[in-house]
Amino acid sequence: MTKPQIRPATGAQFSRILGVGGYRPVRVIPNAEVLEWIDSSDEWIRTRSGIAERRWAGPEESVAEMSVQAAGKAIAQAGIAPDQIGGVIVATVSHLKQTPAIATEIGERLGCGTAPAFDISAACAGFGYGLGLADGMIRGGNAEYVLVIGVERLSDLTDQSDRSTAFIFGDGAGAAVVGPSDTPGIGKLIWGSDGSQSEVITQTQAWDTAFAKPGAVNGVGEETKWPALRMDGQPVFRWAVWEMAKVAQQALDAAGVTADQLGAFIPHQANMRITDAMIKALKLPDSVPVARDIAETGNTSAASIPLAMERMLESGEARSGDLALIIGFGAGLVYAAAVVTLP
Ligand code: UT7
Repeated sequence: MTKPQIRPATGAQFSRILGVGGYRPVRVIPNAEVLEWIDSSDEWIRTRSGIAERRWAGPEESVAEMSVQAAGKAIAQAGIAPDQIGGVIVATVSHLKQTPAIATEIGERLGCGTAPAFDISAACAGFGYGLGLADGMIRGGNAEYVLVIGVERLSDLTDQSDRSTAFIFGDGAGAAVVGPSDTPGIGKLIWGSDGSQSEVITQTQAWDTAFAKPGAVNGVGEETKWPALRMDGQPVFRWAVWEMAKVAQQALDAAGVTADQLGAFIPHQANMRITDAMIKALKLPDSVPVARDIAETGNTSAASIPLAMERMLESGEARSGDLALIIGFGAGLVYAAAVVTLP
């Protein structure tokens, strides 16, 4: 008797981003307001990071609410119905409720039916990680359309008295609908991690040491303090400038695309100086438009790439159908880069 064989799942040959959307909180925090919390100057913040202002979410602008707003736009641009979505992936490090995944609530609110829904934690590389998963799900035959959301309320995890991070972070959501394509729309993902540097960007303390569990005996400190993000800026900066330019080049090479063929460069919005150093390392011609959304948005971690992509498309700086190089990098350390076709 022949052994029974599993029928292979078959999906689309290729995938691409079909729609992108963003949500920016209403409240603008200019550098002048940050100077009320820390000893700094508008000039220092602008020249060292490129940030002029950032958006911070209000009580109504929850992780779910911002995601629903951004995803609604992405779904509309993709021209599909919400119930055609076959997967909801939410990349975030600032949804403060451990379980259930916020993706299920977001899927429900959008009308995505019984689509599988889950969260991923890959910090500023979260959107790229999500895109890679979506591409695999679609080409592997496990979904036709997948919603990838990058969303953060980093203000909830910002220590306003910490000079090295108080000016950096912002809130917002960006979403993309990924679906089948006749031509390749997402190049090979160059992704990875470096756990030896897990301490350079981290939460100051775990929730169980920050807050006493009733009856806890497991080392809960006397002092309770709301955890915040702590960053050792210099090593992260150096890593981003030296290592990430190589990763970006690998993504170009894997896609068989040269820098001059790009219609946009959309790096994670971590620091304008990191972006400028990457442009130099990649020998990106002046003709390639570069995302500089950080000036008005700050660093929104997983949301920064889709937010910047939406802005470039809306402003006409980048055009639908053009090739864009995206690269995310951050806490973990983790990274993900790919060449994609713009929706
Ligand atoms: O999104 C995840 C990935 N994150 C990143 O990629 C961020 C990477 N790192 C960075 O972007 C930069 O390291 C920062 C923007 C965070 C800091 O810039 P930096 O040029 O690395 O500053 P630094 O920490 O080396 O500090 C330089 C000087 C120091 O003074 P001295 O020792 O030279 O006298 C600091 O005390 O600037 C001082 N300083 C400040 N001055 C005014 C540090 N923070 C501030 C501040 N305002 N907020």
